Amino acid sequence: MARGGPLVARRRGVGHYAKSMRIGILTGGGDCPGLNAAIRAVVKRGTSELGHSILGFRNGWRGFLDGDAIPLDRDDVQGTLVHGGTMLGTARCHPQEEPDGLKRAQEVVEAERLDSIICIGGDGTLTAAARVGETGVPVIGIPKTIDNDVVGTDVSIGFDTAMMIATEAIDRLHSTAESHNRVMVVEVMGRNCGWIAVCAGISGGADIILAPEEPFDIGKVAQKIRHRHHANRGFSIVSVAEGAIPSPGSEWQRKDSLDKKGNPISGEIGAQVTRELEARTGFETRLTVLGYVQRGGTPTATDRLLATRMGVAAIDAATKGVTQKFAAARGDKIVMEDFSVSASKIKHVPQDILDAIRGL
Ligand code: F6P
Repeated sequence: MARGGPLVARRRGVGHYAKSMRIGILTGGGDCPGLNAAIRAVVKRGTSELGHSILGFRNGWRGFLDGDAIPLDRDDVQGTLVHGGTMLGTARCHPQEEPDGLKRAQEVVEAERLDSIICIGGDGTLTAAARVGETGVPVIGIPKTIDNDVVGTDVSIGFDTAMMIATEAIDRLHSTAESHNRVMVVEVMGRNCGWIAVCAGISGGADIILAPEEPFDIGKVAQKIRHRHHANRGFSIVSVAEGAIPSPGSEWQRKDSLDKKGNPISGEIGAQVTRELEARTGFETRLTVLGYVQRGGTPTATDRLLATRMGVAAIDAATKGVTQKFAAARGDKIVMEDFSVSASKIKHVPQDILDAIRGL
């Protein structure tokens, strides 16, 4: 029994839910900065404040199906707030896609006598959580993804840090672009959305932003760069989302830049755009692919705060027996949103942010 037990629960405002519970926690999908901050909040609040036992499952739903678990208490999360990645490990695994996956998940819940599972993940992991929840297992979600594409929450854990890393990179590329009068193409992650390319592009002062939300015509991009250079702007910064797409019907189309699942292959579109722009403008053009740097390292203060608040909201909701919901940022509030709102959907960059690019 964790320190404090039922007595503590009674004192902390969830009194009438004071049963000490066994709560499972996992992180699934691509890692990102802030995951440990969320785990830490769940463990600290869950054990010391609410008297629960917290069981960490390694390597996402894969470890869950294998019953690969470790008990977690305050000491285990000591000092983890600043650490990137996830102390539990992660994997891209979804029970509904595994043989007897949903049944095996139920068996693990029974074997571990779990009262609820907290799943920290992106659209894939949260969709899997919804499917496991449909079998009657209590599940709560916490949205994390640098892609910021989870519907139902204003922002997901990890996005702020990735945006900061990409903005910093664009800042740095300015000095070398200016020194060499070059066109610098920087490809950023984001899967099929342009949140990082657009937000870091605006924050870093990129001259051209190519995002999936606005298919582009490479001819017009080259023309804009020529105009800049002829107007004594001897350099240009082009922020390209890995999922950026040329306008259907425009004379240039990308080649083989998607994997078997239809996801963008890191570095592909950036390389093709770089070659095309150099050929069409005649200006030296260089490529930077930020890749996994955007997912690494310490989380920003904003991500630490968001992850901590979502962790607290998730464990409080689990304590109240809430299920099939995820912690969502809504303005300055954290609310519990239905899984059905986000399942199998992605959130694109809204028009008003895209409109902010024009004329910059
Ligand atoms: O979803 C996060 C993300 O980093 C995407 O931006 C990127 O397309 C993808 O994951 C890379 O996947 P993996 O980690 O499997 O290479």
